[in-house]
Amino acid sequence: MPTLVIVGAQWGDEAKGKIVDVLGAEADFVVRYSGGNNAGHTVIVAGEEHKFHLLPAGILHPGVTAVLGGGMVVCPPSLLSELDRTGAGGRPIGQLVVSPAAHVVFPYHRLLDQLEEEARGANKIGTTSRGIGPAYTDKVQRHGIRMGEFVRPEIFERRLREVLAVKNRLLSMFGAAEIEFEALFQEYSRYAERLRPHVAEVAPMLQAAVAEGKHVMFEGAQGTFLDLDHGTYPYVTSSHPTAGGACLGTGIGPRDIGSVLGVCKAYTTRVGSGPFPTELTDEVGELIRDQGQEFGTTTGRARRCGWLDLVALRHSCRINSMSGLILTRLDILGGIGDLKVCLGYRRDGMELHSPPSLIEDWSGIEPVYTTVPGWDEDLRSVRGLQDLPQSARDYLELVESHTGVPIAILSIGPARDETAVLRPDLIWAR
Ligand code: IMO
Ligand code: MG
Repeated sequence: MPTLVIVGAQWGDEAKGKIVDVLGAEADFVVRYSGGNNAGHTVIVAGEEHKFHLLPAGILHPGVTAVLGGGMVVCPPSLLSELDRTGAGGRPIGQLVVSPAAHVVFPYHRLLDQLEEEARGANKIGTTSRGIGPAYTDKVQRHGIRMGEFVRPEIFERRLREVLAVKNRLLSMFGAAEIEFEALFQEYSRYAERLRPHVAEVAPMLQAAVAEGKHVMFEGAQGTFLDLDHGTYPYVTSSHPTAGGACLGTGIGPRDIGSVLGVCKAYTTRVGSGPFPTELTDEVGELIRDQGQEFGTTTGRARRCGWLDLVALRHSCRINSMSGLILTRLDILGGIGDLKVCLGYRRDGMELHSPPSLIEDWSGIEPVYTTVPGWDEDLRSVRGLQDLPQSARDYLELVESHTGVPIAILSIGPARDETAVLRPDLIWAR
């Protein structure tokens, strides 16, 4: 069954976009299943940089059908401007299908995101302020407006009136200005008009594709530890980036998933607040940030950087039932000297070999490191294991032995060809 989930194995920003672009060459469908424009996926093709927030990165392949699944929250003006930008100058791109079950993000969601963050004060989550949490809140509260309603003018008008009345009461409670119905309705109706031709049922389309043996790739956004249930709650996003989310967010059943590849940086980064045991606040952390240009694609924020955490990664492999790992940015660790890798945690003198249980918290957790030799070689021309210095090979070996999951692909630079496929058999399950 050639169906494949590409999932973020850490806290997001693992370079999923590049991988989806590379593997998208063989895909018939590339499907986003969760999140919204909080994601930032960068793809470089022929020296040209493309930044995606809502569109699946696979859309750069003209033969691909790019799908936004029902598990997503979609900001219409962002989606349209991304579509215009990507197809500019008549560039051939894949066709776009948006699920009628996806929820629409409105300006009141963005406003409430900011107001709620301010109200949290020192406990703020550090959201991307794209209205993601409030849009999912409306979904769970059974108050949200879905794409299917949005593109039907009479229904959209009735629903927006009903919801905006409540939102305006909320905004007043926060001391913010109310939003006027007519201007919002007119502006968003124009977006709805443009999106209408793209809105179509997703589950039957994908089920038929699977039955026909088509190549279907699910493009994860965010990462495992930002998952609402499996992440470092409350410092998480409001959706399900984990591989299970691919079923819920699209209408494919669990037995129709052929393989799950977890994308993992050779070190760790995190944006926003929350636990990060291997964070480096010293000059080594700065060096990694500089060498890796670790600044957010969506918000421009400097990312927190740290060593590779194999306790977290092993947990992530289990949560996602990973069939293989994709290790990215190995090139960035070059020239740093000895490297540390976290193999356990310690708290109050006790060693832990998995993340703290959900009835505890992360306070006082210290990483237990092993130190391994680094490398000075430029790895960007590496195309196979034989091109790697021994110390880098040992680094891969440590990752595989600690997680029990084989490394299927190495990414050693942002360009399409800066990729080494080590285990082609693990990519598309037949
Ligand atoms: P990609 O797809 C990294 C983080 C935010 C914040 C938390 C909640 O590029 O990997 P939200 O706006 O979702 O309510 O913010 O989640 N976050 C991400 N961090 N990469 C992402 O996406 C992220 N999407 C959300 O920084 O800590
Ligand atoms: Mg990001």
